Amino acid sequence: MARSAILNVMVQAAMKAGRSLARDFGEVQNLQVSLKGPGDYVSQADKKAEEIIYAELRRARPDYSFLMEESGVIEGVDSQHRWLVDPLDGTTNFLHGIPIFAVSIALERQGQIVAGVIFNPAMDELYTAERGGGAFLNDRRLRVSGRIKLVDSVIGTGVPHIGRGHHGNYLVELRNVMGEVSGVRRMGAAALDLAYVAAGRLDGFWENGLSPWDIGAGIIMVREAGGFVTDFDGGQDVIESKSIVAGNEAIQRALVKTLKKPI
Ligand code: IPD
Ligand code: CA
Ligand code: CA
Ligand code: CA
Repeated sequence: MARSAILNVMVQAAMKAGRSLARDFGEVQNLQVSLKGPGDYVSQADKKAEEIIYAELRRARPDYSFLMEESGVIEGVDSQHRWLVDPLDGTTNFLHGIPIFAVSIALERQGQIVAGVIFNPAMDELYTAERGGGAFLNDRRLRVSGRIKLVDSVIGTGVPHIGRGHHGNYLVELRNVMGEVSGVRRMGAAALDLAYVAAGRLDGFWENGLSPWDIGAGIIMVREAGGFVTDFDGGQDVIESKSIVAGNEAIQRALVKTLKKPI
C-alpha cells in the first residue's frame, strides 16, 4: 500500500536519525553520557538523533507541536497536531553495545494517534502504520499472532529501572504472568516490544510507567495489525494512564486478567 505524504516525512526523519544512531553505535565508547536520574541515561547520540528528527519534521510541517523525550514540549501554532518523538528507544541497550534500539515517531491529530514509525537501524527494520491503512514491516503487511492460549504464548515486558517506582507491583505481575505463559522476554525497548507484537513475534506485552513517546507509534502499530491495546484496567486511554497491555484479542484479554490476580 502506498504511504501518505506525511508518513513519508516520518519515515525520512526516522531513517536519517537511525543512520546517525548507527554511526554513533560504532563509536559508543567515545560518546558523552549523562544521568537524568538513577539508572536513566542520555547520550550525545540521543540528542543528535532528536535534533535531526526535529529539523526534518519542522521543515515539513512548521506549525505542528512537539512532545519529545529529550527537549520536552515545543508548542506550535497548530496545537491539534502533535509529534511524539523518542529519538532513541533503548538507550541502555545502545550504551551497552546491544543492537536492540529504535527511533519512534508518532503523529497525533486532536489527541488521536493517526500514524507511527519505528525504525531499528541495526536490523534495518522499518515499521510503519497509518490509521485505517494497516501496519507494515518494510513492505510486508503485519498481523498479530494467532496463538490464543496463554500457555503457548511468549510475552514481552519492561522491568522498571532503579529510579522508578512500582517494583512491588511489578514482582506480583511478573509472578502471575510467569506462572501461565510459555516464556517472558525483556528486550529493553518498549517501541520494539510493541512492533514485535504487531509482527506476531511476541504474543503480548505489558509495562507500567511508560511515556507517550515510548508507546505512541507502537499503539497504532499493534492496532493496525489487528491487535488490542488497553491500560491495566482495560481502558482505552493508554497514553494518559501510562500502563499498557497489548496483544492479539485473546492474549490481551487474558493478560489483563492475569496481571490483576491477587497474591
Ligand atoms: C526505555 C525503554 C525501556 C523501558 C523504559 C523506557 P528509553 O526508553 O523503552 O524498554 O522499559 O521504561 O524508558 O529511555 O531507552 O528511551
Ligand atoms: Ca530515556
Ligand atoms: Ca523510550
Ligand atoms: Ca529515548
